[in-house]
Amino acid sequence: LASIEVDVSSLEPGMSLTAKWRGKPVFIRNRTPEEVAVAAAVPLSELKDPTARNANLPANATATGTERSAGEGKENWIVMIGSCTHLGCVPLGQAGEYGGWFCPCHGSVYDTAGRIRKGPAPQNLAIPPYAFVSNTVVKIG
Ligand code: FES
Repeated sequence: LASIEVDVSSLEPGMSLTAKWRGKPVFIRNRTPEEVAVAAAVPLSELKDPTARNANLPANATATGTERSAGEGKENWIVMIGSCTHLGCVPLGQAGEYGGWFCPCHGSVYDTAGRIRKGPAPQNLAIPPYAFVSNTVVKIG
């Protein structure tokens, strides 16, 4: 299947689910207002990878909290391919010192916007092409 539609209506703030798209896990998280605020407050200069890595934006978009999210008005939503950019393990959610994701293979730590903050992974978690087709359904691919 080229694309999938995922119902996210059950995700309260702070909850996430993992969908499967093209054989890969895709993390969908409804971030809390606190998580959105913490991610937005990080200066780009502190990021190992300041690039958005967001397939929905130009390649030179920066990894701000908004540009890593579903965009203005939907900053709470984050959709990412659940494959560590080091060697492809599946990171664990709500883990690691930045409250985002932690890769158990070699210790890469991602923040609540899926940006690499520590460890050997070189890039932020990749954001696939996606769009909200309604307030509660995300189409991926
Ligand atoms: Fe994730 Fe190596 S595969 S840290």
